[in-house]
Amino acid sequence: MKLEVVVLAAGQGTRMRSSLPKVLHPLANRPLLSHVLDSARTLMPVRIHVVIGHGSELVREALDAKDLVWVMQEEQLGTGHAVLQAMPGIDADSTVLVLYGDVPLLRASTLEGLIDNCPALLTANLDDPDGYGRVLRDSGDQLQGVVEHKDASDEQRAVREINTGVLAYPAALLAEYLPRVGNANAQGEYYLPDILSMAVNEGHCVAALRANEASEVMGINDRVQLAEAETVYRQRAAEALMLAGVSLADPARIDVRGSLNCGRDVFIDVNCVFEGEVTLGEGVRIGPSCLVRNSTIAAGTEVHALSHIDESDVGDNCSVGPYARLRPGTTLAKGARIGNFVEIKKALIGEGSKVNHLSYVGDAELGDGVNVGAGTITCNYDGVNKHKTRLGDGVFVGSNSTLVAPLEVGAGGFVAAGSTVTRDVPESALGVSRAKQRNIDGWQTPKQRADDEKNQAQGD
Ligand code: UD1
Ligand code: CA
Repeated sequence: MKLEVVVLAAGQGTRMRSSLPKVLHPLANRPLLSHVLDSARTLMPVRIHVVIGHGSELVREALDAKDLVWVMQEEQLGTGHAVLQAMPGIDADSTVLVLYGDVPLLRASTLEGLIDNCPALLTANLDDPDGYGRVLRDSGDQLQGVVEHKDASDEQRAVREINTGVLAYPAALLAEYLPRVGNANAQGEYYLPDILSMAVNEGHCVAALRANEASEVMGINDRVQLAEAETVYRQRAAEALMLAGVSLADPARIDVRGSLNCGRDVFIDVNCVFEGEVTLGEGVRIGPSCLVRNSTIAAGTEVHALSHIDESDVGDNCSVGPYARLRPGTTLAKGARIGNFVEIKKALIGEGSKVNHLSYVGDAELGDGVNVGAGTITCNYDGVNKHKTRLGDGVFVGSNSTLVAPLEVGAGGFVAAGSTVTRDVPESALGVSRAKQRNIDGWQTPKQRADDEKNQAQGD
């Protein structure tokens, strides 16, 4: 069986009240439409046709890919008209699955069930079916058709089973019925669901399958529904993590915007956000309110509260934070410790090395067992170029040092606290660069001086 998918995404999405096309609004940090395309891709169709109209340039730019056929619908004359635009590119002997660009939470298993029962319509029972097309069945429970809310009688509006819009149809039947769909209805539109009653009336049997969860078929029309979809997405992600052996302090307070792969016995505290591709090794602990993006954190490492880890590679048994920031290109070897208010950028921190307090380390390579004292800054940027700092194994940098790159401190080297180091420090040497201390005996403070002057004046 050949499968072709048609995704309808030409509508304006007026109720979003946005200049961004509706299907580009983000759910879990990705456009709504990209979720739909991903579900479609799991079915391995021969082609995916995306019908675009409003904001077509933006939509195409955002999501262009080799497996997509872009179909322009100049005027949005209805869902039936939209599918008709894609028909010239569809093989006559294929099965067509119609999806909506604004229905992003469908599960692949639901779609597979629909295709297996083709021709078939996906329906759902809703507590509040207002606005949706209602599913009409005969006394034998067979599908008769769909009536749009605006065209429905009071009796029909009482039906709680709704049309999700998703259907699987043989291309041959679409080719037969779509051109015959009219627009004599309340909205003056060519309704796709009209092909259901047409087929039924001519003796075809169309299956109507109910989705298991109403949340799966949720359509996004406004930002309230978008937030609801985000909640559903979050719940699904949290559930999958817990079933895979992750402990969550509160499953309602984690956001996974991408893919999060975890080893066993990972613990994640509240209000953490994971973006892009993140991998956490066995036993990793993430403290409250951390953001981790496109990073790998190896087994046994603990990330403390309020840390920010971006495009970094953290080794095993490290300690990061609280309040640490690892910027892109950071690599921490095994057992490294990055403490509070420390920023690391494009740097390799060797095994067991420590940068524990209030430091900036950028464009640097630290060997093993290095200790960087509080308030140390690598001056890596001269306004034009970035320069490298290299600290050999076992180097000790005293607090409040300024390391002006390019700079190298040889293994076992020592930088005295408060130094501004502009020249390399050889192996095992002490680099000290600061004004010599002078002590002035009997130093009078300005206050003491003023008091003395006053006393003298009075004595005169
Ligand atoms: C549609 C269905 C309704 C169903 C509901 C489920 C019709 C006539 N009605 O109503 O039975 O209960 O979805 O959410 O099909 N689109 C185009 N071109 C057009 C018109 C629409 O591409 O000319 C796209 C939209 O961008 C959207 C989808 O089709 O992705 C649905 O259109 P929308 O106007 O939202 O239909 P509803 O009124 O919600
Ligand atoms: Ca809709």
